[in-house]
Amino acid sequence: MLPYSAYQESADFIRQRIGKRHPRVLLILGSGLGFLGDEVEDAVCIDYGDIPHFRPSTAPDHKGRLVTGTLEGTEVMVMQGRMHYYEGYSPEEIVFPVRVAKLLGVEYMIVTNAAGAINKSYQVGDLMLIRDHIRIMGESPLRGENLPQFGPRFCDMTTTYDPALREMAGRLADKLGLRTQTGVYFYFPGPQFETPAEIVLARTLGGDAAGMSTVYEATAANHCGIRTLGVSLMTNMAAGILMQPLSGEEVNAAAARAKDSFTALIRACLQEMRG
Ligand code: HPA
Repeated sequence: MLPYSAYQESADFIRQRIGKRHPRVLLILGSGLGFLGDEVEDAVCIDYGDIPHFRPSTAPDHKGRLVTGTLEGTEVMVMQGRMHYYEGYSPEEIVFPVRVAKLLGVEYMIVTNAAGAINKSYQVGDLMLIRDHIRIMGESPLRGENLPQFGPRFCDMTTTYDPALREMAGRLADKLGLRTQTGVYFYFPGPQFETPAEIVLARTLGGDAAGMSTVYEATAANHCGIRTLGVSLMTNMAAGILMQPLSGEEVNAAAARAKDSFTALIRACLQEMRG
């Protein structure tokens, strides 16, 4: 378990490097979606490896750096690449940057990911606004000693994904003419894709999309009072729906195709989150 002072040390280091910038929104970019980090203005980039207690991201196509600056006039801190459980990181390590962001004054988090559509009415390319999640595998990032500076031991999860932010994103997506869904993200630890039988199980339990990230960060953000918007890009129909093999290349290719709609929605949200 990392002590509270580790989070403070990390925040102090970042504060020194970013100078006058005061990030308001933490933007976590998922697989194939890191390009938005390159569009940040007045940017200061810090490699995860340089920040005390941060862990490098080893996932392919994740740059592994923190970009702080402005997007659409909103002060942001962008995680260009995140840590995943399947890389061998502990849930505590995965959420470390979220808690550091809290110490830096971040109020909102937009967490994004690539996901497989479990709901058969969804299409590849749809953006799903996350209404809730299901994590029945992989332990909670809040397991172990509670750090009361961040939040209570028993943390309410009723509005882990902020209803007002979701309503705002839905309204903006409609205005932009984007196809969006609202649904439940079902977490699988990976790194292998799911079996068709696991996808049937997830659908039976109420899942609409399957993915290997996000639930840790959203749980920690909720615990420490950061309001969260979760956006999943459907990069493929989940295993067994089309009886076609899945691959990481397919996920990245679908993410690249969705670049414009994804960027438009995130930018529109950031514009509305301007302080
Ligand atoms: N399953 C889990 N994670 C994913 C998928 C999937 O089908 N597609 C993109 N990320």
